[in-house]
Amino acid sequence: MKKLFYLLTVFSISLTLNAQDIARSPIGGQQPKSDPDKIISIETAKSSLVLKVSGRDGRLYHLYLGPRLSSTESFNQRGNENHLAYATFGTDNLFEPAIRVLHNDGNPSLELIYVSHETANAGNDATLTRILLRDPQYPFEVTLFCKAFTATDVFEQWAEIRHTEKKPVTIYNYASSMLHFDAERYWLTQFHGDWAEEMKARESELTAGIKILDSKLGSRAHMYQTPVFLLSLNEKAEENSGQVLAGTLGWSGNFRFLFEVDEKNSLRVISGINPFASEYSLQPGKVFKTPSMIFTFSNSGTGQASRNLHRWAINHGVLNGTGSRYTLLNNWEATGFNFDEKKLTSILDDTKKMGLDVFLLDDGWFANKYPRNHDRAGLGDWQENKAKLPGGLGYLVKEADARGVKFGIWIEPEMVNPRSELYENHPEWILKLPNRPEHYFRNQLVLDLTNPKVQEFVYNVVDGMLTANPGIAFIKWDCNRMMTNMYSTYLKDKQSHLYIDYVNSLYGVLERLRSKYPDLPIMLCSGGGGRVDYGALKYFTEFWASDNTDPLERIYMQWGYSYFFPAISVCNHVTSWGKQSLKYKTDVAMMGKMGFDIEVDKLTENELKFCQDAIANYNRIKDVIYKGDLYRLISPYKENRAALMYVNQEKTKAVLFSYTLNTRYGETINRVRLQGLDPDKTYNIREINVPNEGRFRGGSENGRSYTGDYLMNVGLNAGSSTPLTSVVYEITE
Ligand code: GLA
Repeated sequence: MKKLFYLLTVFSISLTLNAQDIARSPIGGQQPKSDPDKIISIETAKSSLVLKVSGRDGRLYHLYLGPRLSSTESFNQRGNENHLAYATFGTDNLFEPAIRVLHNDGNPSLELIYVSHETANAGNDATLTRILLRDPQYPFEVTLFCKAFTATDVFEQWAEIRHTEKKPVTIYNYASSMLHFDAERYWLTQFHGDWAEEMKARESELTAGIKILDSKLGSRAHMYQTPVFLLSLNEKAEENSGQVLAGTLGWSGNFRFLFEVDEKNSLRVISGINPFASEYSLQPGKVFKTPSMIFTFSNSGTGQASRNLHRWAINHGVLNGTGSRYTLLNNWEATGFNFDEKKLTSILDDTKKMGLDVFLLDDGWFANKYPRNHDRAGLGDWQENKAKLPGGLGYLVKEADARGVKFGIWIEPEMVNPRSELYENHPEWILKLPNRPEHYFRNQLVLDLTNPKVQEFVYNVVDGMLTANPGIAFIKWDCNRMMTNMYSTYLKDKQSHLYIDYVNSLYGVLERLRSKYPDLPIMLCSGGGGRVDYGALKYFTEFWASDNTDPLERIYMQWGYSYFFPAISVCNHVTSWGKQSLKYKTDVAMMGKMGFDIEVDKLTENELKFCQDAIANYNRIKDVIYKGDLYRLISPYKENRAALMYVNQEKTKAVLFSYTLNTRYGETINRVRLQGLDPDKTYNIREINVPNEGRFRGGSENGRSYTGDYLMNVGLNAGSSTPLTSVVYEITE
């Protein structure tokens, strides 16, 4: 018995050593070094990320990510080198690596030793730290980049991998970032769903082992899972307290977030492109650059984390984030594919009548041999359909101009229907397996964007249209299917490059378009929110959050997006989805970038007047919504209502939205305590979007004034217990 106990103890000690301490021992066979340790501290206004080069083994360790420390001196003590900052595979790491490679001599291991680092001013209130690591045996190196945005407390991390070995090296894993935490407990909130049910938040505790959030969908990559997460330390995530990491990957393809809790309850978070079926053959001298992992650490809950990301996104993440946005009337819900020139000109009149900026012509305007009268034909043939549009796009642009409104148009240039001339003429431009039947989704296939000829084609679709019709003022760029039929004729023996090269090729086309058309507003759509990330938003001004526009559903979805994306980028339309009142629909759409997709000619006079007034209200307050700070006050996940507000930077103007959901009989709706105001200022409360008919009972605070102090501690009556009613207050100093 005694012997057994002894054996067990020895066994468990050796296991413990394997797991953690071996990583601290010098590289196999090498003499221990005795260089001084080097601390690399990367700071923002409120957080610190601390790394250490160990003088003992020359490796780079992650020591800390958390609230900003006044000094990093204490980290100089030895013994805190537990977590490799960019763990490799093949030497002594026993857990998931950040990088794994196969050298061309068959050696599957990598060792990364610190070479040098520098931190430079990166303009725009940011610093950029580069840390060069190199394998002592192979000419293989990794540069880790960390851009720290001081004021917004946002970090952007990526890696560049290169080598000068004689032949290509295959890289199997290539993370953008690896972070470590040592907390009591870890809570992960993920945002998943499907078409028309995007961004459902679900929080769960991480336990020992691996949890992965990922996508293997390729093009409409985020249809089931958006590349975002919240990680809360010790406690579940709260809006105004607690330590939370909010992270998102700027990559419009397959992504992977891997959370591994080890036997010591340490957590490693590895983020980047999903390495699934994507081993990459890296040529000597070429650089493999990973996308950016964007994250912020908040010491006061998810509210602050979101405000950090929003402020960062407006300034750095979304194209023209500091500008404004057009309101628009879309015809997709109203007409589908069924329209002609006369119908469209009448919608141009409606756009004007409503007071909206743009008429956005959706799907169905193109293709002649196989007219796009339904979703089974025409994709790929981007010529105006002569029967529907005899005067071409030029006529519509002219008519729009004559009415003082702008003209916008829908395209889906990465796709093709088998019933199209494009398919007939260029079968080699399409992703499909040579010896298997084609698999369709929405009756279509994906073009092989890795082929430069296809890139040229896609560029020309857009550029050709804009050159012929310089009056086009808005584009909706759709992408309605994910990748299957995974085979590119162009890539030949490099099929495992397809997922990655596709996205980089897409970025290449967008880059080229943006250098010619830097300011044109383009909405990013992917059958709803199937492609929402900051890799794409560099090229897009906004995104279509979901095809589901039922306002009750939308409250949850928009709530979900609001954790990571600023209101200016989230397109919300008032449509016929849902049986709620026009007011409710409008109030819900207003919490982001508002638009309409309704049959304006079917509105009653009162409804039309309501819309016109609401649009005028929106134009007056939209700057606060677009650029203000968001405070989520009452979560729809916790109560039968939702309340949120935006406050401008000067704290002189705010907007409060309060939505009652499906309340039970007798349920009371308490006051809402506001946040983010100046306690010493006095604010006037004005209720807006008040219908002039029906059973509407407004909020009871219209016309009153209160101090910020009162509003934040006592609160406002905002809304009733009547299901599916809403109140919007414009709050002005
Ligand atoms: C996708 C989009 C819709 C609409 C249709 C047109 O589903 O999400 O908004 O543009 O395509 O086919």
